[in-house]
Amino acid sequence: MQEKRMAGIKAVDYIKDNMIVGLGTGSTVYYLIEQVGRLVKQGLNIKTVPTSRRTSSLAKKFNILEISIDEVAKIDLAIDGVDEIDKHFNAIKGGGGALFREKIVSKIANKVIWIMDSSKIVDTIWAFPLPVEILPYGFTHIIRKLEVLSFHPTLRMNSDTPYMTDNNNYIVVCILENHLISNMYLKN
Ligand code: A5P
Repeated sequence: MQEKRMAGIKAVDYIKDNMIVGLGTGSTVYYLIEQVGRLVKQGLNIKTVPTSRRTSSLAKKFNILEISIDEVAKIDLAIDGVDEIDKHFNAIKGGGGALFREKIVSKIANKVIWIMDSSKIVDTIWAFPLPVEILPYGFTHIIRKLEVLSFHPTLRMNSDTPYMTDNNNYIVVCILENHLISNMYLKN
């Protein structure tokens, strides 16, 4: 908890007045948003693009100005968490279910900072299952395709119904077989 807090607070050093900032999602980003809220209260002038409804509600709670992603041509800086990261900066993200918007926001950002505690730093990624967002329409076919590719897909559930993302899509979590993980690292 302490490391996540430190990471969230430190990342705020990179936010400057008048920036458009992409706000990620998750428990580490919570501390970032809390700190941004403190600085906004002291006069920091920024606009933010949230990557989830959860982040949007938090930003509102801390009186942080939010704008739509379609109102901006670029984002100056996006800050987000990760689920696992290795020394080559290969990472798995999206455990919180916000991967789609997180990816769009990071794609249009001039700079991306990932914040994490030390538990997220691993020698090889893929112990954490990779979340993939898919349309509900025809999802069984996508799952079958992923099975053929040896990704061992499982539909994420919310008790007895499929988990729904902010975009009203499903999430499939994938696991890579050990020999494929080794191949990936041999290429690095
Ligand atoms: C949200 O979809 C994720 O990408 C999070 O950024 C990631 O899961 C890290 O979350 P925590 O900071 O809560 O561990």
